[in-house]
Amino acid sequence: MNKIAIFASGTGTNAENIISYFSGSKIAKVALILSNKKESLVIKKAEKLSVESFIFSPTELRETTKVDQLLEDNEIDILVLAGFLLLMPPRLVEKYRGRIINIHPSLLPKFGGKGMYGDAVHKAVIEVGEKESGITIHHVNEKFDSGAIIFQAKCLVDKNDTAHTLALKVRELEMEHFPRIIERELGG
Ligand code: GRF
Repeated sequence: MNKIAIFASGTGTNAENIISYFSGSKIAKVALILSNKKESLVIKKAEKLSVESFIFSPTELRETTKVDQLLEDNEIDILVLAGFLLLMPPRLVEKYRGRIINIHPSLLPKFGGKGMYGDAVHKAVIEVGEKESGITIHHVNEKFDSGAIIFQAKCLVDKNDTAHTLALKVRELEMEHFPRIIERELGG
């Protein structure tokens, strides 16, 4: 059984979807939710779904081995970033190279990098008149949104789309594909 740790800072829609996808699976289970935001919805969702959660500060992540220890103690096989806004420290990237996956709500390399998250991404896509957008699931390296791409799925951007309506289309792709691609990465 593979053990997944999800890193998330926000509402945790993806985290919740991944937890329920793997509940009852023989391939993997979500063993831990890790966040730098104590008040985030993802923590409430973890509680509701009885998944252990852990909060750390950005400094603890960067400068201590608290998180590393927790991952080791729980025998975590794969780190999944789902709306996690901090940069993974090089130490952890090195240790879990090829086993850290992120989802980004655009077709990378377009519209990625620091500060590109949430509606900022969708606004930028609409502003430059892109005809399509989508999701990118990729390996994590030492820089934001620049690791090797594992999978992309596209949706059309209509003339009438707003950041909000585009976000809904992208969300649908995330729900459909992210758990499945994690499972595939785990050899399932
Ligand atoms: C998602 O759009 C994901 O692509 C991005 O952050 C968002 C997280 O949303 N990396 P949620 O917390 O899963 O609702």
